[in-house]
Amino acid sequence: MRGIILAGGSGSRLRPLTSIHSKQLLPVYDKPMIYYPLSVLLQTGIREILIISTPAHLGMYRSLLGDGRQLGISLSYEVQDEPKGLAEALLIGREFVGSEQVCLILGDNIFYGHRLPDMLREEVERLDGCTLFGYPVSDPERYGVASVDAEGTILTLEEKPTAPRSNLAVTGLYLYDNDALAHASELLPSARGELEITDLNLRYVKEGRARLVNLGRGSAWFDTGTHDSLLEASLFVQLLEKRQGIRISCLEEVAHHMGYIDNEQLRVLAKELSSSNYGQYVLSLAGA
Ligand code: DAU
Repeated sequence: MRGIILAGGSGSRLRPLTSIHSKQLLPVYDKPMIYYPLSVLLQTGIREILIISTPAHLGMYRSLLGDGRQLGISLSYEVQDEPKGLAEALLIGREFVGSEQVCLILGDNIFYGHRLPDMLREEVERLDGCTLFGYPVSDPERYGVASVDAEGTILTLEEKPTAPRSNLAVTGLYLYDNDALAHASELLPSARGELEITDLNLRYVKEGRARLVNLGRGSAWFDTGTHDSLLEASLFVQLLEKRQGIRISCLEEVAHHMGYIDNEQLRVLAKELSSSNYGQYVLSLAGA
């Protein structure tokens, strides 16, 4: 399976933080936001990843993460000229995906959960059509909203409904079989001029091949779309990391844990970061 991180958009709701800076590079406590979705892909076992961002910001992602070799993965980069919708990521990534399955994740979505990596790997194994991940929220009208039957098959799916049929928000993590590329190429822009991910997902719903997994109580999901939710995500990460003495979504740790890099490679990465607490943590993992 190939992975795509969509990290573009205008960031208008976070201005002036994003007046010149890319939203998905803003700090979430001790690391850039994109570390969180990237670590989700790595933990799922996905090592070939495309990062999509704006013409103004793509170079920054390349400077930060390079070709991925240092983490034992492969990173490539493509531009999205204008924010013409989430589903456009699949058109931009068409050649990159080729004949494989694909996992699309939004660069501003933060997931945390003890069981999450195992669960994602299980869902990749059983993928037939598309699999979405739902999270119960108190304000579903801000999101895509799904209703499901007892088996988790999606019955209805609506984008930002005024009268939501459930409290299950569709998160920004999507697993697709290769049909997604053909479906995406047939989409028409919505009233707001975007290729909507919900329209793509509705194609699978009509075929009865769209599944929703409820992330439920055992995990946390943040979208960092407002100043408050951005701060809340940082505070959540800080609290957990301080209390447990661990780091969430530490890419170097994840790559090492997954066996993508060995101890020696981990030590090299740690040394480069060693003047920060983050680097000291990585150094301690490398046994140095
Ligand atoms: O966060 C989950 C929600 O994401 C889902 O529940 C919705 O179904 C889905 O449509 C999306 O809703 P948003 O209103 O959050 O989408 P937004 O336009 O804010 O874009 C989400 C992120 O993707 C944001 O960081 C900007 C980036 N983006 C957006 C567009 C439209 C791009 O990189 N390119 C784009 O063309």
